[in-house]
Amino acid sequence: MKDAAAHIADIEKSLKAEIPEGVTAVAAVSGGIDSTVAAVLANRVIGTRVRPLFVDTGLLRQDEGPKVLGSVRKAGIPLELIDARQTFFRALKGVIDPEEKRTRIGEAFIRVFEQEAKSNGATHLIQGTIAPDWIESGGGMRDTIKKHHNVGGLPKDMRLKVVEPLRDLYKDEVRAIAKHLGVPEASRQPFPGPGLAVRVLGEVTEERVATLRAATVVVEEAVERAVGQGKIHSPWQYFAVLLPIQSTGVIGDNRTYANTVAVRMVESSDAMSATASEPPAWLLREISERITRELSGKVNRVVYDVTDKPPATIEWE
Ligand code: XMP
Repeated sequence: MKDAAAHIADIEKSLKAEIPEGVTAVAAVSGGIDSTVAAVLANRVIGTRVRPLFVDTGLLRQDEGPKVLGSVRKAGIPLELIDARQTFFRALKGVIDPEEKRTRIGEAFIRVFEQEAKSNGATHLIQGTIAPDWIESGGGMRDTIKKHHNVGGLPKDMRLKVVEPLRDLYKDEVRAIAKHLGVPEASRQPFPGPGLAVRVLGEVTEERVATLRAATVVVEEAVERAVGQGKIHSPWQYFAVLLPIQSTGVIGDNRTYANTVAVRMVESSDAMSATASEPPAWLLREISERITRELSGKVNRVVYDVTDKPPATIEWE
């Protein structure tokens, strides 16, 4: 097996060939380890000929934009923030089908990058796609499970040439490269490129995303506090999902009819398979109490997903 230094040497060589002198690029950076490593390597090889961009899609978690900007800039990458929230909500209006959502999100990303590419004459787009992304998007011999937004969701008429320096690597290899490069490994859990949209089942509206964002804060805070206190180990991923189901509840003497939030926590090593975590009952109770209190009137029921992958996937869409 190759070590990190050998992978880096190979990647730098192919980046030099794919983006030769005189050619400029934009890089899509989400703040996750994959796209950050891709941007750092591109920055080392082609320097200021690459413009690294972070897109605020409106589908991000609480304070994600400022956090990502801060940590990636610390790694020496001059990351720019692009506010494209309205572009994404317009693209998702009325869309319920999960694959259609991914297609629309993929397309909206590309349109934003094409627009931004005009300012530095970029012809190439650098992405942090890794092997499981395209394998699960129908690459190789497999059926399409999900179109990962940065793979199957690309529009056919896109004008930028996609460069994927990490496309043959798995997560553990990317982590080793990050360590070798001194890219701080954010303790951040994996977060899907299409953002909260794949966790809002049914139509993705600003209001429903805001509800899910608040529920997500509760799940993350409760889990991270319990981990910090040494009461549980950190699950691989832990998050909330807003279901397209309303059900009956009661507050005082009044009937309510409101949304359901599902809580998902999984154990995994490479996201290709996963086991549902078994969090203690007190933690689930704490999460349920906080979500229903803080989102009173919007959410009146919280359920826990006990399904492994397979047969389910980690995300609900
Ligand atoms: P699934 O839901 O397919 O997720 O079991 C496997 C892992 O991938 C993440 N995920 C994505 N990551 N773009 C990404 O960059 C996507 O479109 C996407 N969909 C899922 C998911 O959070 C899990 O870690």
